[in-house]
Amino acid sequence: MLLFTESMALILSFMPSFQVVLLLLLALSNAVKINGDESHGQCNYNKQTLQPRPHSVSISEFGAVGDGKTLNTIAFQNAIFYLKSFADKGGAQLYDPSHWEVVDPLPSYGRGIEIPGSRYRSLINGYNVKDVVITGDNGTIDGQGSVWWDWFNSHSLKYSRPHLVEFVDSQSVVVSNLSFVNAPAYGIHPVYCSNVHVHNISVSIPLDSPHTNGIVPDSSDGVCIEDCTITSGYDAISLKSGWDEYGIAYGRPTKNVHIRRVDLQSSSGSSLAFGSEMSGGISNVLVEQVHLYNSHSGVEFRTTKGRGGYIKQITISDVVIKNVFVAFSASGQCGSHPDDKYDPTAIPVLDHISLQNVVGKKISVAGIFNGIQESPFTSICLYNISLSINSGAPTTWECSNVSGSSDLVSPEPCSELHSTKPNSPSGCFSLSTLYGKASAF
Ligand SMILES: *[C@@H]1O[C@H](CO)[C@@H](O)[C@H](O)[C@H]1NC(C)=O
Ligand SMILES: *[C@@H]1O[C@H](CO)[C@@H](O)[C@H](O)[C@H]1NC(C)=O
Ligand SMILES: *[C@@H]1O[C@H](CO)[C@@H](O)[C@H](O)[C@H]1NC(C)=O
Ligand SMILES: *[C@@H]1O[C@H](CO)[C@@H](O)[C@H](O)[C@H]1NC(C)=O
Ligand SMILES: *[C@@H]1O[C@H](CO)[C@@H](O)[C@H](O)[C@H]1NC(C)=O
Repeated sequence: MLLFTESMALILSFMPSFQVVLLLLLALSNAVKINGDESHGQCNYNKQTLQPRPHSVSISEFGAVGDGKTLNTIAFQNAIFYLKSFADKGGAQLYDPSHWEVVDPLPSYGRGIEIPGSRYRSLINGYNVKDVVITGDNGTIDGQGSVWWDWFNSHSLKYSRPHLVEFVDSQSVVVSNLSFVNAPAYGIHPVYCSNVHVHNISVSIPLDSPHTNGIVPDSSDGVCIEDCTITSGYDAISLKSGWDEYGIAYGRPTKNVHIRRVDLQSSSGSSLAFGSEMSGGISNVLVEQVHLYNSHSGVEFRTTKGRGGYIKQITISDVVIKNVFVAFSASGQCGSHPDDKYDPTAIPVLDHISLQNVVGKKISVAGIFNGIQESPFTSICLYNISLSINSGAPTTWECSNVSGSSDLVSPEPCSELHSTKPNSPSGCFSLSTLYGKASAF
């Protein structure tokens, strides 16, 4: 059943035995006021986006939204085409990936992230759209990723893999009440977007799938991710903002991000990661009430010389970590370069990072903080952290080129992180008040 009605804008509803329900709701750009006041799209402000839209566009008008008429049309056709791939019983019919469309690389990366040159178009995508809702009554969207993983593993990809859902240059996007499974590369990728609300979804990509990431906010402003469960092969949630000279030139940071009440499991990467592509900068990120488990690392900050940019003003609070090899890591020697034109003197900054109210069990290494000699990591603040370390673990803390403070942390961190003990816990940088929440301190 493929059904269009105009009662709630455009509704794409598709229910074969596989149980896919996808509703794509569009409203005219100015018809709905998202976020009453000048908020940054964090979780507390997004309630209105869930209401039905009073004004709507029909399928034929869809292509007229935004600047790129043709692109929008193609984007929408892709969504339909993609849904049609579930037409056969059990959703088993595979679309033909060898004829999948190719698009230009993102300007902030300069090339496909996996293979130089172009990249495959994402399976469901929106370029330059406004006020889009992708929702469903707990339906499942299956990216049928295995063929892409095989190509990745056997080095037979011609271009970088597609993502399952991608929004580029879009505003006021809601994704909710759906399960996304088997993404070819990333599950959900908002890039150059503002006001993105991801709510009550699950993303599951097999733990052994190569370099797959759950949700990747990329050069976007005002992102809320809440009440989600994510499992993936590499990072569960990864924040990015462009790659070396391309990301520096494009200059679009990821900022004003709020992540709460999420369960994150990854395999070879990190439950929650920042970078390594962070050349446009990443700042003002609040993460709270998160459960990180069965992963290589819990929280990882990654960068390297040549990136430029910054990762700063990050607060991560109320964390339960279980069965993770390294609870926290920050590395200034992590990641490769898009080509040899990068500027090795473009030194990234890591500053004002607070980790607080953490309980961890079955941890091998508490923390590894290796900064950059020319630009040591600064104001790393650890407060109220209790980690139980596996017996026979190789090392507890490892620190170099880093400074910061700590209080109520066990096991006792390296001297670099208690040289300037905060005389009160509020010596930690904290974003809490930004969100109208009473400070945890
Ligand atoms: C998600 O489901 C909840 C509960 O059924 C509903 O209240 C909410 O409006 C749904 N979200 C969207 C965007 O439809
Ligand atoms: C989340 O999705 C489930 C399944 O669709 C639904 O039952 C539940 O009400 C939703 N919760 C919220 C808070 O929207
Ligand atoms: C939503 O769907 C997933 C997988 O299809 C299922 O495991 C889960 O129980 C469902 N949740 C609800 C509330 O129906
Ligand atoms: C420490 O964190 C735990 C949660 O991990 C919290 O219950 C407790 O109140 C915090 N203690 C202080 C002194 O902030
Ligand atoms: C800083 O890191 C470099 C390696 O990048 C290392 O050689 C140097 O000893 C470190 N400095 C300090 C003070 O730990």
